[in-house]
Amino acid sequence: MNDKIESAPHEGRSFAPPATFSETAQPSAAALAALYREAAEDHSGFWARQARRNLSWKLPFTQGLDDSHPPFFKWFADGWLNASYNALDRHLDSRGDKTALIFESDEGTVQRYSYRALHAEVCRFANGLRTLGLHKGDRVVIYLPMGPQAIIAMLACARIGAIHSVVFGGFSADSLRDRIRDAGARLVITADAAPRGGRLVPLKDTVDAALAAGYDTVRQVVVYRRNGAAIAWNREHDIWWDDVVAGQLAVCEPEWVEAEFPLFLLYTSGSTGKPKGVQHSTAGYLLGAMTSMQWVFDPRPDDVFWCTADVGWITGHSYVCYGPLLNGMTQVVFEGVPTHPDPERFWRMIAAHQVSIFYTAPTAIRALMRNGDELPRRHDLGSLRLLGTVGEPINPEAWMWYHRVIGNERCPIVDTWWQTETGAAMIAPVPGVVAAKPGSCTRPLPGIAVDIVDEQGAPVTAPYEGGYLVVNKPWPSMLRTIWGDDARYEKTYFGQFGKQVYVAGDGAHRDEDGYIWILGRIDDVLNVSGHRLGTAEIESALASHPRVAEAAVVGRPHEIKGEAVLAFVVARGERHAAVADGLAAELREWVGTRIGAIAKPDEIRFVDGLPKTRSGKIMRRLLRTVGRGETITQDTSTLENEAILGQLCAAEARASAAA
Ligand code: WT7
Repeated sequence: MNDKIESAPHEGRSFAPPATFSETAQPSAAALAALYREAAEDHSGFWARQARRNLSWKLPFTQGLDDSHPPFFKWFADGWLNASYNALDRHLDSRGDKTALIFESDEGTVQRYSYRALHAEVCRFANGLRTLGLHKGDRVVIYLPMGPQAIIAMLACARIGAIHSVVFGGFSADSLRDRIRDAGARLVITADAAPRGGRLVPLKDTVDAALAAGYDTVRQVVVYRRNGAAIAWNREHDIWWDDVVAGQLAVCEPEWVEAEFPLFLLYTSGSTGKPKGVQHSTAGYLLGAMTSMQWVFDPRPDDVFWCTADVGWITGHSYVCYGPLLNGMTQVVFEGVPTHPDPERFWRMIAAHQVSIFYTAPTAIRALMRNGDELPRRHDLGSLRLLGTVGEPINPEAWMWYHRVIGNERCPIVDTWWQTETGAAMIAPVPGVVAAKPGSCTRPLPGIAVDIVDEQGAPVTAPYEGGYLVVNKPWPSMLRTIWGDDARYEKTYFGQFGKQVYVAGDGAHRDEDGYIWILGRIDDVLNVSGHRLGTAEIESALASHPRVAEAAVVGRPHEIKGEAVLAFVVARGERHAAVADGLAAELREWVGTRIGAIAKPDEIRFVDGLPKTRSGKIMRRLLRTVGRGETITQDTSTLENEAILGQLCAAEARASAAA
């Protein structure tokens, strides 16, 4: 078993919600107890009632869960609906003039969209997409800066039944091309270039590079003019966003789709070199985004919600695009980064837009915490009433700082555990009811059957005993498959404990109060700044360099990023020549071009060989130990090349001496 499921520190502090918060918060303790009871008695019926209450259906469904072909589950399968209708149209009568989006650009300009205005923009763009010949089921890759156009593009796709696949703007041309190809996209939507943290991200150039070897299935590239940057223009394929919407009506009949019809694909890293196209359904996904928003964030009519995630990640799908709009909320959408023009940006924006619910990542909190208490204290953060975190376990020190300095000890903190695959928050406190403990995501939400099991799949009951985090019953917002690869879906998530038990890939334990503590990934997946990276993906990028014979990548604890990428590389030819030539810098850039800047190794160590078992398997666990500078305690007698150990340790000693 992996070290991630063996041990973890104990944290004893507990923070009950302030009485002033609990008094009015929803769900209340009684309401929450009723939800758990109802879900325990009738899992399928519970979710069916939620789906009737929360979603608008064109044609009502008659059945909740269909589990006749596990692990290919269906929810509400004979119902018909439309995602953009649920996010926009149904609010028009009651709150058409309410602000849906407060957009702040990288440069600091602010633009507001009411629900009515957003609806009109989505309809125009959707009509434009239809004019381009897009139909239900066509895949559309969205490679846009974070901002209203990304949301409009997503909702316009949903409106006409096209399946969106958003690719984060930080991914390289190679990564973008792989995703376009795997999805068989007909259309790519991008912008000329996007300012981010004061620098320009050349999105259109990257799309051009991705399509340089051929357009394959892509018929057109829609280009939003973000800032007038000079770009190459391909007359055959390129079309301006403005020309797509010119003359289009601000109303558009939605394409009604079956509940199970795919709403989107989102590529994420796994334990092989090839990213997985996680496929989400329409109704089940929307229901998860909507109910989790209600249970975890206690939305009220006058709230201003701000989730800092980019729409290129699942957090930006569920808690920027869909969740807040489904619930008719007002939210801040931010194009930039927390440190530009200075590390006060978040705090200034919270004060300026009177943000009441703030949801961000531990890595951002740690980075900002480094600048001390003084910077946030310069701003009036009194509008805040609830804080959230997502993406990785939060260390108690960062939690306490968030609580004390940002929340002024008045705001509950919701630590939300979930994944690209789960679609919506799964384990998280209901803020008016459940006391928080720094570093624990607390308890599963209603209708979410989470458990911790041992190697044999038997429940782990003893406190602090580690095990595999699993979900025992299907839930509506779970992924439906991996695009084009049912076998990989089945093997990856349901290959260990049978076709009913979803294996999350995380290790976890419970404490004596039944609180869940996530111990981290137990597969070969890293979590760098809250972003998921596959070690195999980085390894194959490294190995594709002509001077690399072999490479192994492991994670190492990092103060800000959570985990840092450490690569052990066997270079062709002389090891010392590789070091002297600055090959390390070249390889970092190489990985940046193959995958994206987020995947660049923080450190590269050149070695003559990798530690392997006699069957040829790289002993990653040993490399992790070496990378952390810890003493090797594992059994090394199975090593095929034991001599390599001395050299690995010497490389470690050199690295620490240099640091
Ligand atoms: C992995 C999923 C869900 C949106 C962001 C990441 C880790 C996520 C927490 C948390 C501890 C967490 C897990 C999970 N993770 N949230 N609150 N506490 N760990 O989505 O890229 O699909 O990554 O992120 O390891 O498996 P993702």
